[in-house]
Amino acid sequence: MRIVMVASEAKPFCKTGGLADVTYSLSKELTLMGEQVSIILPFYEIIRARMNPSVRLVEHFFISMSWRREEARVYRSSADGITYYFIENSHYFDRPNLYGDGDDGERFAFFTLAVRELLYRMNDKPDIIHIHDWQPGMLPCLIKEDVFARDFFKKTKFIATIHNPAFQGFLDRSALRELYNLPEYLYDDGQVRFQERVSTLKAGIVYSDIITTVSPTHHLELLTPEGGRGLDNVLRFREWDFLGILNGIDYEEFNPETDAQIPYPFTLENVYEKKKANKKALFEELNITDYGQPLYSMVTRITWQKGFDLVFPAVEQLVEKGCNVIILGSGERDYELRWEDLRARYPDKIAIYIGYNDSLAHRIYAASDFFLMPSLFEPCGLGQMIAQRYGTLPIVRRTGGLKDSVINYDGNNVSTSNGFGFDEYSEWDMNRTCLYAFDQYHQPKIMQKLIANAMQTDNSWRKSAQQYLAVYKRAIKNK
Ligand code: GLC
Repeated sequence: MRIVMVASEAKPFCKTGGLADVTYSLSKELTLMGEQVSIILPFYEIIRARMNPSVRLVEHFFISMSWRREEARVYRSSADGITYYFIENSHYFDRPNLYGDGDDGERFAFFTLAVRELLYRMNDKPDIIHIHDWQPGMLPCLIKEDVFARDFFKKTKFIATIHNPAFQGFLDRSALRELYNLPEYLYDDGQVRFQERVSTLKAGIVYSDIITTVSPTHHLELLTPEGGRGLDNVLRFREWDFLGILNGIDYEEFNPETDAQIPYPFTLENVYEKKKANKKALFEELNITDYGQPLYSMVTRITWQKGFDLVFPAVEQLVEKGCNVIILGSGERDYELRWEDLRARYPDKIAIYIGYNDSLAHRIYAASDFFLMPSLFEPCGLGQMIAQRYGTLPIVRRTGGLKDSVINYDGNNVSTSNGFGFDEYSEWDMNRTCLYAFDQYHQPKIMQKLIANAMQTDNSWRKSAQQYLAVYKRAIKNK
């Protein structure tokens, strides 16, 4: 099967969040299963730095967006059996950040139009075009609303995956014509209209053959008014073509036994002592003091979605009890400053690293006892799964994929549980759960069993990739 993924980020070239892990790991797994997979990305400035020298210019064309005429150069490279195409336009993509300059709507309109043009020019037509999130959301609409393109791609099926429904790709009505060269009646008829604007995410949902999101629980949440962020109305129309598939994690990259980033690799047999050694090394690296209490950590985008309002009070309580806390990530400045404040008050117990540092992230996963993820909402979440693989027990709010991947220890289920969880988004529940975990830390028998369960949880991509393959086959069969 020929599968083309279209996304705004993918490892190993560019990443701000879990999306990049998923587009890459899913593609890699599908490749191992014998499928032919390509990923199309914008050629961001940071990609240039990481580009392998074998990259080749393969296409060169112009895209018209009403009065603008923009140049696209397409480069091709490969990694792990996946073919990558990069769409270059220095005006739109030669910037230090992937997103956030205020013209993202225009940048990704250009990208999506260029992807369509590239797809015409590729030799083989894809069986499946799999779009991710809002950025390429207009692609199925661009193809299905164009008589020529519709005919050209008549055998191609579209899959849209929602990773984060909080980003909906809003544009003014006029952008339909000005950016996408589409007629405005698509707005008046409602196909692309959402909350009195155009939404490229909604367009992706309406025009794709099958829609997925990244966990079974989030699938149910998206169909409710409370969890749907307005999309529940749209998704209910597509209910029969909408399902949730839990993400996996890359078992090659996240393997405590072979991980070159951690000083003391380990297995199930020696995790208990090696974790201590990793912890000692990390405390030296980050210059904090061990008071013999558990280490709680976070590796995350620092944004409101991740539950920081619950984290701060819990952290104060934990450090008062002698615990250590480490956070790695970047995001909203207000939260970053609050972390700086806390560190200033407890410099020997709290370490923060603002920024992105893959290698340090591995060492944090390996050294920690507990991993905090009290998200307000979490379509899937990958950190909790990585933590489990490194024998670090996640403490989560049971929402979205966190609910599907963490079995709460309640005092009676030591043989099956692999972490801690609570339901209400409340400080009280968060504090209580962190303290409960603290108590378990001092019960070595229970801890050892929970750690073993976590490490043995199957979070590999295989199962999920098989489910995606079944979805692709179903789309192809439904004429
Ligand atoms: C988004 C979601 C996260 C999910 C990731 C990959 O970042 O917020 O929950 O794990 O996409 O699907």
